Amino acid sequence: MAQQDWTTSITKTGAGELRVRGYDINSMIKGLSFAQTIYLILKGELPSEAEARMIEAMLVSSIDHGITPPSNLAARTVMSGGNSLNSSVAAGILCIGESHGGAIEQCARILQESVAAGRSAAEVVAWHKERKIRLPGFGHRIHERDPRTTTLLEVADACGFTGDHIRLAVGMMEELEKGSSRKLPLNVDGAIAAVISEMGFDWRMGKGFFIIARTPGLVAHVFEEWSTQKPMRKLGPLGGHYDGPEDRDLPQG
Ligand SMILES: CC(C)(COP(=O)(O)OP(=O)(O)OC[C@H]1O[C@@H](n2cnc3c(N)ncnc32)[C@H](O)[C@@H]1OP(=O)(O)O)[C@@H](O)C(=O)NCCC(=O)NCCS
Repeated sequence: MAQQDWTTSITKTGAGELRVRGYDINSMIKGLSFAQTIYLILKGELPSEAEARMIEAMLVSSIDHGITPPSNLAARTVMSGGNSLNSSVAAGILCIGESHGGAIEQCARILQESVAAGRSAAEVVAWHKERKIRLPGFGHRIHERDPRTTTLLEVADACGFTGDHIRLAVGMMEELEKGSSRKLPLNVDGAIAAVISEMGFDWRMGKGFFIIARTPGLVAHVFEEWSTQKPMRKLGPLGGHYDGPEDRDLPQG
């Protein structure tokens, strides 16, 4: 059977030629920042100055969060087991899920669908509370108010991006905390979800922003593990406690 060609509208390649979304890579190397290039490849067009500034700010905000997040623990554990840098970084990326970094996706979905449907913050929060579903993009293990959120929303405001999605996200935080003794802040995932929604990105790209931002942090952690620690060192919980069945023998016969 004849094999079908694949088509792409992202990058054109030919002998001695490389064009991303129509632009020559050599002009891009000389004239574009990495944030501008990321916007171009994801959106298909060059960003305005404000859009490029906003992308830059989001990427910086999520570069790293210390040694304890699941992705860094996984990446360093895989390196400690004697694996390559790429396998270790990939393990870290595989850890990015609904509770860690990946909450951007579902939070952006909720914000985009709720704004389109004209739902209020109170309605969205009540719907999730009734079903005992945690709202993605809210809550933090360490921060009562996520400092990155405050700054990102300041930058968004300065860049002219404060609109319905950001207002809904902030309103949801206020609703969520009503009658709750604990703080459930809009976390950095939720702030990025709100900002990319204002910028017109599809919610299905959500996790991509965290992956792009966190990969340099993962590379730094994996390299630190590789270059300063001995392999198979004790990582994570130092003790091990067994609470399964008592010792027993297989049935005879
Ligand atoms: C990030 C997270 C795991 C931190 O959790 P934590 O601070 O350890 O809090 P706990 O899991 O112990 O939950 C404590 C209480 O807060 C509530 N809570 C925490 N996050 C909540 C959320 N996003 N929506 C609704 N309720 C939430 C829990 O239901 C629990 O209530 P209870 O005491 O009545 O049972 C948690 O907030 C969460 O799952 N958030 C959603 C996913 C997310 O945004 N992840 C990105 C993190 S940057």
